[in-house]
Amino acid sequence: MGPKALYLGLLCLLFAYYFYTPIPSNIEERWKVRILDAMIKTCTFTATCLENIGIMRSEDFLSILLRLDYTQPFSDENVTVSDLTFVGIPVRLYLPKRKPEIPRRAVIYFHGGSYCLGSFKQTGFDLLNRWTSSTLEAVVLAVDYRLAPQHVFPAQFEDSFAAVKYFLQDEVLMKYEVDPTRICISGDSAGGALAAAVTQQVQNDLQIKHKIKAQALLYPHLQIIDSFFPSHQENEHGIFLTKDLVIKFLTLYLGKDEALFWAIKKNHHMPLESRYLFQFANWSILLPEKYRKGFVYTEPILGKSRISLPALTDIRTSPLLANDTQLKNLPATYILTCQYDIIRDDGLMYVSRLQKVGVHVTNDHIEDGLHGALSFMAFPISLKLGLRIRDLYISWLDKNL
Ligand SMILES: *[C@@H]1O[C@H](CO)[C@@H](O)[C@H](O)[C@H]1NC(C)=O
Ligand SMILES: *[C@@H]1O[C@H](CO)[C@@H](O)[C@H](O)[C@H]1NC(C)=O
Ligand SMILES: *[C@@H]1O[C@H](CO)[C@@H](O)[C@H](O)[C@H]1NC(C)=O
Repeated sequence: MGPKALYLGLLCLLFAYYFYTPIPSNIEERWKVRILDAMIKTCTFTATCLENIGIMRSEDFLSILLRLDYTQPFSDENVTVSDLTFVGIPVRLYLPKRKPEIPRRAVIYFHGGSYCLGSFKQTGFDLLNRWTSSTLEAVVLAVDYRLAPQHVFPAQFEDSFAAVKYFLQDEVLMKYEVDPTRICISGDSAGGALAAAVTQQVQNDLQIKHKIKAQALLYPHLQIIDSFFPSHQENEHGIFLTKDLVIKFLTLYLGKDEALFWAIKKNHHMPLESRYLFQFANWSILLPEKYRKGFVYTEPILGKSRISLPALTDIRTSPLLANDTQLKNLPATYILTCQYDIIRDDGLMYVSRLQKVGVHVTNDHIEDGLHGALSFMAFPISLKLGLRIRDLYISWLDKNL
């Protein structure tokens, strides 16, 4: 038996192992979810093997797989779609074909992918943005910010902010017949962090004339300072996304090595002088009772790792750490959270923080929800859950934008 056959055999075994790992009983389309989860974990395992034997970096392998799912900018009967660049940043623009009677609403979208992977070109995101544009007769702008590890923080934020700033200019809004008072910033997962951070920046920047009317954060990532939230503990080996993978990508995003990976994993990574920030991200206070029941709060150990990294305390990596004054100016907010999501509590705690300062916030919590479901909206890997999330998001936008 050659090494290829051996490897194939090993992969089949692994697939079977992942496939038979129990999953919660309230999850819809359990078979499909199991197959998808086993496929993702087998791919991630293969990526790690390739990295360990020195063939290629794991994120490069995953990125090649994702590229198979990229779409061209094709127009349909309702929407004209084109790929452009705004101040050098790749964007995909969806313009409704029907002539508007009044200026249109607009949605700016940042895709997920752990700051290292993905594009608005992925089928799931293309379908979502196309659907948003056609259903709401809105202009949709999807932004491809630079990715790690080639580009580390703050490149992702800077591109996102620059594209938004460009779009918010009078001439540009006029060109696309956008109503400057009806603009939303949206994003999922890592894109949710970028959406939240850019919205904070726009609302608090005196030089930007047009403000944002709404923000929509779909299972967002919102903080790096604590890696022991109940959702981190509950979903450590979670469906679709595991704790090790999240921390690995964060380490790449922050441009650091294994030392940071292990420090975050043990919750030893924050410096002593960051103690005051925990008032904004202390789950024993900010997380609703329902989600912290059965968990014992342990304080992160500060100053142990001696890692000095300003990005760890920056609100552009962790929008949850903005103070109340900075949060007060935020627009109407939609936050969708999923029960079986390792970063679930980020979203739930942002809901608490925003409610406290009087921001209008809607939280749809999906009891059988899974992180990343929006990526599974088309044959052959469509989940009803993806469509449910899409419909909740669109219906909130329709009422609030
Ligand atoms: C275009 O819009 C109509 C009316 O909303 C809808 O029935 C049709 O499915 C849309 N076409 C596409 C390609 O989405
Ligand atoms: C979090 O809040 C608890 C009170 O519920 C407190 O005892 C603890 O010191 C806080 N943690 C930090 C790091 O501030
Ligand atoms: C909130 O943060 C801003 C920006 O860092 C700072 O200027 C302001 O003083 C802070 N406000 C409070 C109440 O701490």
